[in-house]
Amino acid sequence: MNRIVNRQAKKDISADERLIVALDVPRAAEAKALVDQLGDSVSFYKLGLELSMSGDYFSLIDWLQERGKKIFADLKFFDVPETVARAVRQLTDRNIHFVSIHGDDAMLKAAVAVKKDLKILAVTVLTSLNRQDLADLGFQCEVEDLVLSRARRALQLGCDGVISSGLEAARLRDRLGEQFLVISPGIRPLENRREDDQKRVVTVEQAFADGADYIVVGRPIRDAVNPKGAADAIQAIIAHALL
Ligand code: C5P
Repeated sequence: MNRIVNRQAKKDISADERLIVALDVPRAAEAKALVDQLGDSVSFYKLGLELSMSGDYFSLIDWLQERGKKIFADLKFFDVPETVARAVRQLTDRNIHFVSIHGDDAMLKAAVAVKKDLKILAVTVLTSLNRQDLADLGFQCEVEDLVLSRARRALQLGCDGVISSGLEAARLRDRLGEQFLVISPGIRPLENRREDDQKRVVTVEQAFADGADYIVVGRPIRDAVNPKGAADAIQAIIAHALL
């Protein structure tokens, strides 16, 4: 427990902001309905690929910011470095907090060079991939080793944090320290878990105990019978974990 208290003290992040809800819906109207329903229970939202195709990505960001919400632009940029830098520039000066980059050293470096106040998060290994998926992609290594190596390089290049499963968070903290941000998607209750595409999953409690600063939660809230109740339950677990 002490480890968590120490981490919390070092970073100025309020407990309620540590839950980032993924707005994985097709249109702005559905996103707004979910945000209205969640009300004060959620103050940080992730807008990903699906909403980027809606035609309302930036107007929705404005709408959320008018309501005091923080924004993670999860666009997982992967392109030649010049194009990545030019895309990141489109997101600066908009009071967006995080953007994700899914690339190699040169792409991360290009993003860091133009980031201004925007925090650059490097995707390590998607939480939907396991050891066999990596082998299929041609990586002959353990998932944890690849996560650690990609995280180390990202931090050396000036990224603000990494996205990894909670399964690797403890090792990242042990090897790379406490300063950088760890954002963990793939959050699932382990009991009564519905099978889906996420393979490296942890509970809310485990993610924070192992050193995550933020969790990203999509379907467990979006698809809940009572999304606000689900968000409140997660916020209560976070508050307790950080006591
Ligand atoms: O529905 P679920 O809780 O699995 O949502 C997870 C969200 O986090 C999705 O929007 C997905 O794009 C995102 N994400 C992820 N794994 C990463 C990075 C982002 O699942 N490594």
